[in-house]
Amino acid sequence: MPHRPYIVGNWKMNGNRAMLAEARAIDRAAGRYPDVQVALAPPFTLIGALREAVTAMGVGGQDCHAHAKGAHTGDVSAAMLVDSGADFVIVGHSERRKDHGESDGVVQAKADAALANGLGVIVCVGETLDERDAGKAVSIVAGQVDASMPVGEGTSDAVALGKVAVAYEPVWAIGTGRVAAVSDVIEMHAAIRARLIALYGEAGEKVRILYGGSVNAGNAAELLAAQGVGGALVGGASLTADAFLPIIAAAGNGEA
Ligand code: PGA
Repeated sequence: MPHRPYIVGNWKMNGNRAMLAEARAIDRAAGRYPDVQVALAPPFTLIGALREAVTAMGVGGQDCHAHAKGAHTGDVSAAMLVDSGADFVIVGHSERRKDHGESDGVVQAKADAALANGLGVIVCVGETLDERDAGKAVSIVAGQVDASMPVGEGTSDAVALGKVAVAYEPVWAIGTGRVAAVSDVIEMHAAIRARLIALYGEAGEKVRILYGGSVNAGNAAELLAAQGVGGALVGGASLTADAFLPIIAAAGNGEA
């Protein structure tokens, strides 16, 4: 792994103030692994409290609106995330793409808004099981990368600063306990890297590519050691310190 590994917990629609104790424990562990960049993306409601509760790790949102403000009931803008204490945002998660009908173009606009507001961004991509079975996984994901990654003003600076990441999350591996084969992960990460270099030139090497989908204590070391894997986006196994700490440790012991 040429980059400092990036281990990000995505709490999805889970968590309340009582769970800040877990976050504090995760933060203490993050402090023990300075070679690993650790972050948590809680629901919007916890971002401010989490920011106050932790020191070593990043705090992010799970989505943002593409516009700065206005008549968008229930939405939160990138500027509002910054105001709440977030330093990054996940965009284009497959649950957002599916549940909220987000197209690549919408995801790209959100990524642009994130960077314009100084946030780091993690853009999620991934194929469905039907697409993989049809032999289309690489072309689908390459198309998502081409059409979802940020392109706005300031993108090249953000890429050069390492503020842009991609999470490869096969839809069929999310929350299912089914993990992609390491050889498939290596193939896909190489394909994503090629698209990033086509988009951003040599600076595309600075974009970290995370794997996500049923990452846990038992499989993290193998996945994180795979060629081209720059970290992990972790859902279920990020909800408790007991489950998340071994993943941070696996990244810390890997060849970062
Ligand atoms: P999971 O979720 O680790 O629970 O599979 C990953 C994600 O959706 O980011």
